[in-house]
Amino acid sequence: MAVSRGHFSSRLGFILAAAGSAVGLGNIWKFPFEVGSGGGAAFVVMYLGFCFLLCFPVMTAEIAIGRRTQRNAVGAFKALNKPRWAFIGFLGLASGLLILSFYNVVAGWAFGYVIEMIMGNFDIGSQFGDFIKDWMKIGLYGIVFMGATAFIVSQGVQKGIEKAAKFLMPTLIILMILLSTYAMTLEGAMRGIEFYLIPDFSKINGQVVYSALGQAFFSLSLGMGALITYGSYLSKEQNIVQSAALITLMDVGIAFLAGLMLFPLVFSQGLEPTGGPGLIFVTLPGVFRDLGPNIGIIIGTLFFTLLSFAALTSTVSLLEVPVAYVVDEHKVPRKRAVWLTATLIFLIGIPSLLSNGASSILTNFIDVIGLAREGATDNSFMTLVAWIANDTFLPLGGMLISIFAAYIWKKENLSAELSIGNEGYAGSFLERFINFSISYLAPVVLSVIFLLTLLSKFFGIDLI
Ligand code: PHE
Repeated sequence: MAVSRGHFSSRLGFILAAAGSAVGLGNIWKFPFEVGSGGGAAFVVMYLGFCFLLCFPVMTAEIAIGRRTQRNAVGAFKALNKPRWAFIGFLGLASGLLILSFYNVVAGWAFGYVIEMIMGNFDIGSQFGDFIKDWMKIGLYGIVFMGATAFIVSQGVQKGIEKAAKFLMPTLIILMILLSTYAMTLEGAMRGIEFYLIPDFSKINGQVVYSALGQAFFSLSLGMGALITYGSYLSKEQNIVQSAALITLMDVGIAFLAGLMLFPLVFSQGLEPTGGPGLIFVTLPGVFRDLGPNIGIIIGTLFFTLLSFAALTSTVSLLEVPVAYVVDEHKVPRKRAVWLTATLIFLIGIPSLLSNGASSILTNFIDVIGLAREGATDNSFMTLVAWIANDTFLPLGGMLISIFAAYIWKKENLSAELSIGNEGYAGSFLERFINFSISYLAPVVLSVIFLLTLLSKFFGIDLI
């Protein structure tokens, strides 16, 4: 089996692929806005705390389970002789299928915007509602995006996932540095930086803490076995703890950079940042126009290309989780597994595709099934899928993975795996910290998040 599974050729390849999974739409459109509405630097500090105190240890545990077993998210539990715990893997597969089903739709928007920008259609921002309603066009973009994802995954770990990450990630970083530097030279840019970075502690409340944690967890691709799967392609001599720290740093760094790029752009044109997808898809095209027609086309095209690249390395990891399962456990050849799974996920995504205006039932789905909250503007089927997968399944999966690593597989085995390629880990402060986080902090905090989501989203009880 080891022969046919594939593996990353180098540590850099692994780190770029895993960071590629982490860096996605979550970093570029969601993070900056959450920072803006959650108290600026106060949110950033909190977010950093969660990433390093809670997410980083969970990440090391996922990678360790994967590398130890050299198996997919489901098979890993069986390989550790704990077949009953394989349900965690199945939960992860379900999360992956659901997340990719709607993530691909949004990625399709980003890709569509590249084309609109090339054509100089800066009015697209004000036509956003009609744009996402046009299911034939968005469906086509979705097919292209899923096709690109499937193509990369079908080429295997080294020639597909690793090679794509080695090209896409550096390009993404270069584009971001270019765009943020340019943005900061614009007049009025400083107002954006102030909005982004001056801490306003009065905005911090339970809700903001909840979002910061959810955001950190989703952004680092945790809780669904994506890193178990990538870890299973990692060779023994690599230092997992150090790699996980680098992946976390890259993810946080890129999210931070996204804010440095967006807010100066938006404020330089005297606009106020709006919430949700609006900031990028509604406001930005107008900003690009105001930069001047030619420079606007260049900056706009680069921006949405960057967004599409970020999404692509994430969709690749989302698809690899079920594919690795089908390849390992059902012995289906990789190419066939990829195309079948990608088609299935695309089909699962059709209701999400139609839920942005094309079908009124799906657009108001949350209301239709009686779960709508007062004042909520987005009641789409797609949002419901995000509630289930991102907000419910991921924290649940993360909590179970931590409990599994600490108490079922046991801390000693986790430590032993993390000590490989990492002299001095045994007995270190870092070891004690990771063990503490996995045994107590992560299970407790993640179960609180899971319960809060259940109560507020599905039972209408808001505790925070
Ligand atoms: N981390 C990705 C983002 O921020 C999303 C993702 C979640 C990817 C879970 C894989 C697994 O966009």
